[in-house]
This record gives sequence, structure tokens and C-alpha cells, in this order.
Amino acid sequence: MRPVDRSNRGSALVVVAALAALLSACDPSPGAFSGAARATEGGAGSGSAEGLPAHAPARFAFGAEASDARVAMWDIDVRPDGDGLPQGSGSVQQGRDVYMVHCIACHGPTGTEGPNDRLVDNSPWDAYPTSRAIGNYWPYATTLYDYIRKAMPQLTPGVLNADQVYGVIAYILYLNEIVPEDAVMSAQTLPAVVMPMRDRFVDDDRTGGPGPVR
Ligand code: HEC
Repeated sequence: MRPVDRSNRGSALVVVAALAALLSACDPSPGAFSGAARATEGGAGSGSAEGLPAHAPARFAFGAEASDARVAMWDIDVRPDGDGLPQGSGSVQQGRDVYMVHCIACHGPTGTEGPNDRLVDNSPWDAYPTSRAIGNYWPYATTLYDYIRKAMPQLTPGVLNADQVYGVIAYILYLNEIVPEDAVMSAQTLPAVVMPMRDRFVDDDRTGGPGPVR
């Protein structure tokens, strides 16, 4: 007859733990985690460090120190003003070779055929465009570097070196008739490219919500 009680107590503990987890998920305040931790302890003993249960290890046996070299591997964002662009350069001609090997299968021979996103289109639009490509939508040339380095080619991102990324950007900008055929892209020239739709974007200064998250 007693085993039933024991299993009941077990499920009650699970419910308490689940409730605590739910509460901490709902409450974004910094104290939420320590509150949940105390609740799961059921009041038995206080944590060894602020917010940690007594049985929590000082360190978990995984991960590695966030060394400068490791952080640098992740710190690869390129800003609209060109901040973050690496050394290197690539011409339209070099980019054509990159494109024909690494991009053509998904974006088509001229960047318009797909099957995936259309990259080439510079037709003007008045209403919100149905075709959003590089030439008729993208506000900055610099962020092409950011995006392509991180995400393209879609199945093998990271295979292109800096010269190849600069080159394929030069080629795509050339196909969109934004740079001439002898253009060479680099950390100096790419931020100087003015995209045709740059002025179609405005700062979002609407108010009335909770305000910016800081
Ligand atoms: C395996 C297919 C594949 C390959 C190969 C590929 N892409 Fe893509 N690309 C995609 C898909 C899918 C998207 C849309 C991704 C999304 O919306 O999240 C995309 C989106 C893009 C975009 C953004 C288009 C926009 O305006 O939103 C750019 C730029 C781009 N690719 C460039 C390239 C370049 C340059 C290469 C070659 C170095 C390349 N892609 C190779 C599948 C591919």
C-alpha cells in the first residue's frame, strides 16, 4: 500500500520543479533564477553561492576558456559603415569564377533564375516590391560581406576566403549594374558603393511601445 504514496511524492516533486521552472521562465527579473533554485531545494539548505543550490558543482566539465582567439572566430560582423571588413580584395572577374562554382546551382546563371533567392534585379518600384533582390532592395553593399561570409554558400558557409567573398560581391554588384566591370572590392572600396535603394529606408522613430531594449 505504501509504494503508491512514494510515487505520489515523486510526482509532487516533479510538479514543484516544473512550476518553479515555469515561474522563472515567466519572470525575466535577475532574481528569478535564484528564486526558482530555492523553490526546488524545498527549503533544505542554502546554496553555496548566490542563487546556486548547495550540490551544484563549482564548474561543469565542458566548454573552454573564451580566449581572444576563440572570441575572434565569432566576432565577424560587418557593419553598414564597413566596420569589421577584413583585409583582402576581389575583382568582378575573380568573382565570376567564384559564382560559377559556388553560387550558380541555387541562384541561377545570371542571378535571376533561382531556384533560390533572386540576387539580380534593379528595376525601380513605387509600391512595396514583390521582388526583393540586391539592386532594388539592399540598402548597404557592406552587409553583403557580413551575410555571405556567414551564410553562403548555404550548404557550406565558411568555404570562401576574404578575396573570394570580395570578388563574388563585386560580381553580384556588377550584375546589378551598380559597379563597372573593372571594379575591385575591398575594405576601402566596398563602403564607398552607394546602393540604389539606400534612401528608401528611414529610421524607425515610432514611439508608444515599451521603448528600446538595452
Ligand atoms: C544550396 C543553395 C545555395 C547556394 C549554393 C548559395 N545560396 Fe545564396 N541563398 C540560398 C537560399 C536558400 C537563400 C535564402 C536564405 C534565407 O532567406 O534565409 C539565399 C540567399 C542569398 C542572399 C540573400 C538574398 C536576399 O536579397 O535576401 C545572398 C546575397 C546570397 N544568397 C548569396 C550567395 C552567394 C554569393 C553564393 C555563392 C558563394 C550563394 N548564395 C550560394 C541558397 C544558396
